[in-house]
Amino acid sequence: MSRSGGPVEKRLKKAKGRTASSTRWLTRQLNDPYVKAARDAGWRSRAAFKLIELDEKFGLIRGANRVVDLGIAPGGWSQVVRKLNPRAAVVGIDLLETDPIDGVTIFQMDFMADEAPAALMGALDGAPDLVISDMAANTVGHKQTDHLRTMGLVETAADFAIQNLAPGGAFVAKVLAGGTDTDLLGLLKRHFTTVKHAKPPASRKDSSEWYVIAQGFKGQAERGEDAA
Ligand SMILES: C[S@@+](CC[C@H](N)C(=O)[O-])C[C@H]1O[C@@H](n2cnc3c(N)ncnc32)[C@H](O)[C@@H]1O
Repeated sequence: MSRSGGPVEKRLKKAKGRTASSTRWLTRQLNDPYVKAARDAGWRSRAAFKLIELDEKFGLIRGANRVVDLGIAPGGWSQVVRKLNPRAAVVGIDLLETDPIDGVTIFQMDFMADEAPAALMGALDGAPDLVISDMAANTVGHKQTDHLRTMGLVETAADFAIQNLAPGGAFVAKVLAGGTDTDLLGLLKRHFTTVKHAKPPASRKDSSEWYVIAQGFKGQAERGEDAA
């Protein structure tokens, strides 16, 4: 405890070769209760709590027996899906390597590659009822560029969901606040009965990330002009 009675913030001693930004990152990790809770619970990422919180609010996972996890590494979200619904068949994709998870087929591949959708769908024995995307482009520090690159991933993920989801299915994706979200929202509203935004408590306040949650996929028959 500090003299004021609050928890003591852990500080890092200066280490040779460590940059100021990595010291800031490490200090934040050391003082982040979600990082400790994730470690204690065996989740591979603190992001696992974001999906748990979104699931508590929107009821996404228990009814989903086929799930696609876009940007799966290190695997926290897929762990959560399998824990809450052990019957779910899950397929995930990431540029990075992901350690195996029971019941999950994992591709180390660029989701933007032409062959990615067929690879994902080939691993499932039917249409998914949940597509989740936590993908974020590597940031370059230029706000608008970072935003556009991540939105490109989200739009491709939304197209994939619209092409492949089972009727009644749901799509959840990380989006960044600002700029181009209106087109994406319009697209989702045409194809899903409800579209909401949420910032789960585990999402850092200083991060511009939000999540879009689209539920009640209307199915292929109502795809209209986007089917062309
Ligand atoms: C925030 S992490 C996902 C964390 C994950 N939800 C978890 O709980 O463990 C975002 C991931 O998106 C992946 N990613 C970014 N662009 C991608 C792309 N084009 N194809 C596949 N994965 C991508 C990154 O490699 C990164 O591992």
